Amino acid sequence: MAEKLWGGRFAKSTDKLVEDFHSSISFDQILYKQDIQGSLAHAKMLGHQGIISPGEAEQIIDGLTQILADIEAGRVEFEVGAEDIHMNIEKLLTERIGDAGKKLHTARSRNDQVAVDIRLYIKDQIDEICELILALQATLLELADQHKTSVMAGYTHLQKAQPITMGHHLLAYFQMFRRDFERLQDCRKRADVMPLGSGALATTTFPIDREFTAEQLDFAAICENSLDGVSDRDFIVEFISAAALIMVHLSRFSEEIVLWSSTEFGYITLDDGYSTGSSIMPQKKNPDVAELVRGKSGRVFGHLMGSLTMLKGLPLAYNKDMQEDKEALFDTVDTVKKSLLVFQPMLATMRVNVSLMRDRAKGGFINATDAADYLAARGVPFREAHSVIGHLVKYAEDKGVGLEDLAFEEISQFSPVFQQDIYEYIAIEKCVAARNIPGGPAQPAVEKAIANGAAWLAAVRA
Ligand code: ARG
Repeated sequence: MAEKLWGGRFAKSTDKLVEDFHSSISFDQILYKQDIQGSLAHAKMLGHQGIISPGEAEQIIDGLTQILADIEAGRVEFEVGAEDIHMNIEKLLTERIGDAGKKLHTARSRNDQVAVDIRLYIKDQIDEICELILALQATLLELADQHKTSVMAGYTHLQKAQPITMGHHLLAYFQMFRRDFERLQDCRKRADVMPLGSGALATTTFPIDREFTAEQLDFAAICENSLDGVSDRDFIVEFISAAALIMVHLSRFSEEIVLWSSTEFGYITLDDGYSTGSSIMPQKKNPDVAELVRGKSGRVFGHLMGSLTMLKGLPLAYNKDMQEDKEALFDTVDTVKKSLLVFQPMLATMRVNVSLMRDRAKGGFINATDAADYLAARGVPFREAHSVIGHLVKYAEDKGVGLEDLAFEEISQFSPVFQQDIYEYIAIEKCVAARNIPGGPAQPAVEKAIANGAAWLAAVRA
């Protein structure tokens, strides 16, 4: 059995069960690039400070560069016995370059090593996820522009409320994803602080230069306390929390896609490429993509609770419990990226059934608020107007018709304030157009919102 890198004080080798239980290489190999990046910066710093010789630093750098190329070409097989990605790479390096490889870990611990790896990883992943969010937002703006006059029922309690447009509805999601983007950017600032140099917990006796390493690795600052540097994972919790909100937004949107694509609503038709069939019912075309995104949100919420719980009772500094941060983090990244990636083309390819959606908006007394506003605008106190229209709705409902279908003689029985122009006032397109308030559904307001959204997108992309 190969001796462990830490095997010196052990008389017996690790039990096989323990080896499997505590090895993390099966999942933390995903960090190979960040681990090598961190080691390259550390080796350069050691050479720069004269802690190792310039020749040794060079050998290490060449060795690591080769290893990186070999991993990327699929030429490296990791060993469970070497525990994790950090020791696998160190072992490979020593096998390849000999004694100089054994000097890489001078003035460093796996505790600050893993902490720097995850911070580098999170920064990279935030950048990628933010790009996916922006692509989705660009699609939302395009769709909102196409559907700025496509009238649709707005709901509260999933009951018809007031008419809006599909464009206005989609812009609500644009705002949610904008906040998601901003949350990730904010979280990135706190991940952008370098723990390397914290050592196991109390830095090192060697004259290292942490600022030099931070510059190499493009960190904005260094952790100001070595215990904090190695034992904190709040940036992971924060990231998963931001990811959980992205999933909440995607999940609510998914729920609407599922509803809208049902025969009962019929507002949209999903593209065949983004729907699936049934093994028994020949007619079926199911919105599986939206359902899966909705379902996958649970994984991310679970990871959030899992990471909070993992951290809450840990004494300072490092504890092995913290190795459990990784699968939660990696699965969160995977879930959010895949969900965003598939959502954008699903939306871009869906068809909105504009006239059917408009027809379906008409029922359910969706113009009742406008009828009340008509009276209120003519001096009837709103509370009274509300009551008058309530009675009118009851009357029309008993007849099985909408307000606009009643004869003027019928309507005018409920209030002398009604004039012939009431019909014009409660026409559905008019109800939308009348709400020309910033943030509202009328076409000019929606056009302004689209322009603001486009300006924001251009500014963050610049
Ligand atoms: N694989 C470990 C982790 O992810 C690396 C740090 C190990 N440190 C230690 N002292 N055992 O947490």
